[in-house]
Amino acid sequence: MHIVLTGGAGFIGSNFVKLVLRDRPDYRITNLDALTYSGNLENLSDIEHDERYTFVKGDVRDPKVLDAVLPDADAVVHMAAESHVDRSIMDSGPFVDTNTRGTQVLLDAWRRAGGNEKRFVYVSTDEVYGSLPLENPEIKFTESTPLDPSSPYSASKTGGDLLVNAYFHTFGMNVVTTRCSNNFGPYQFPEKVIPLFVTNLIEGKKVPLYGDGKNVRDWLHVDDHCEAILTVLEKGTAGQVYNIGGNNERSNLELTHSILEIMGFGEEMIQYVEDRLGHDRRYAIDASKIKNELGWGPSRSAWPAALESTVKWYVDNPQWWQRVKSGEYQSYYEKQYRSRT
Ligand code: NAD
Ligand code: TYD
Repeated sequence: MHIVLTGGAGFIGSNFVKLVLRDRPDYRITNLDALTYSGNLENLSDIEHDERYTFVKGDVRDPKVLDAVLPDADAVVHMAAESHVDRSIMDSGPFVDTNTRGTQVLLDAWRRAGGNEKRFVYVSTDEVYGSLPLENPEIKFTESTPLDPSSPYSASKTGGDLLVNAYFHTFGMNVVTTRCSNNFGPYQFPEKVIPLFVTNLIEGKKVPLYGDGKNVRDWLHVDDHCEAILTVLEKGTAGQVYNIGGNNERSNLELTHSILEIMGFGEEMIQYVEDRLGHDRRYAIDASKIKNELGWGPSRSAWPAALESTVKWYVDNPQWWQRVKSGEYQSYYEKQYRSRT
């Protein structure tokens, strides 16, 4: 099995590459990544010499690079994306261009490469369902919840999601879609709430909590998400959507208190700041379909142990996040890339 993974130099992608190399000795994986601000080859430095791994610098919007790489693949896992809601509020253009148009360019290239009958996994997000009210905790997103995205990020991911579904109906393409809740774990870009808060505290800075802090997210460890994607790749039914979640809902305030407690800080380190525009109130996933049909359930997301080990990773790896936070990582990965070409 030769997988072409898009976005493999990012947070989830780099963890996915390592999981595949570790758990599937007979698989090869090619990582196609444009190395935007959140792509970092340093995430993969421990496996970069593995002969089953290949890196190709390329953009999912570039048909030329896709036509060169895809014909040799048995499957595509598509997770390259602009991924941060706050950035999409500041400038939605790159989100529509990569997340929606990039998915269309990739789907067409996969068909040209003879991939119509071969597996194509689209890594979507639970944010395509929009926001749930806090008042009805029994309601969760199921795969048949109507899509109702509310941020430019989630709208652009929904565009990709709908196109993938359309290629199943129109061409009978062998697609499967995953919709996962919020991930945490090592190598997450420190613009997302957990690495931002942990690294701020290490630096002695306060943590900026949006609004009243009551917004709820369902937290899943990245290794669980990657294992679920691999399960869907291997066993999922074409044309189906699988929700992935940790059954682990926490308000942002609860999450912040847990981080403060783990790191030995008090309430005074919280800085309440203006709310995010259009801030989705609650995400909650019903992941019973993937459990019942494919036998997958989370095993590495136990709370607070998984949060503690994640905090420890950032405490133990200051060189990684200091470079990333300061912007020097760009010169690091550009240097790495130049040395390969
Ligand atoms: P990330 O921002 O850490 O990584 C994104 C990667 O995509 C980077 O390596 C970047 O260089 C690459 N990329 C961006 N634009 C590209 C382009 N045009 N061509 C090629 N590569 C490009 O994001 P992440 O958190 O690892 O998320 C990965 C995927 O998982 C995304 O599709 C996201 O929507 C989805 N997802 C994320 C979460 C989460 O909690 N992080 C939850 C559910 C779904
Ligand atoms: P984030 O990690 O950006 O993920 P998403 O918006 O995709 O869920 O944010 C998680 C939650 O944390 C979200 O409700 C917004 C909140 N948040 C803050 O309170 N402060 C921050 O500085 C950030 C980045 C997020």
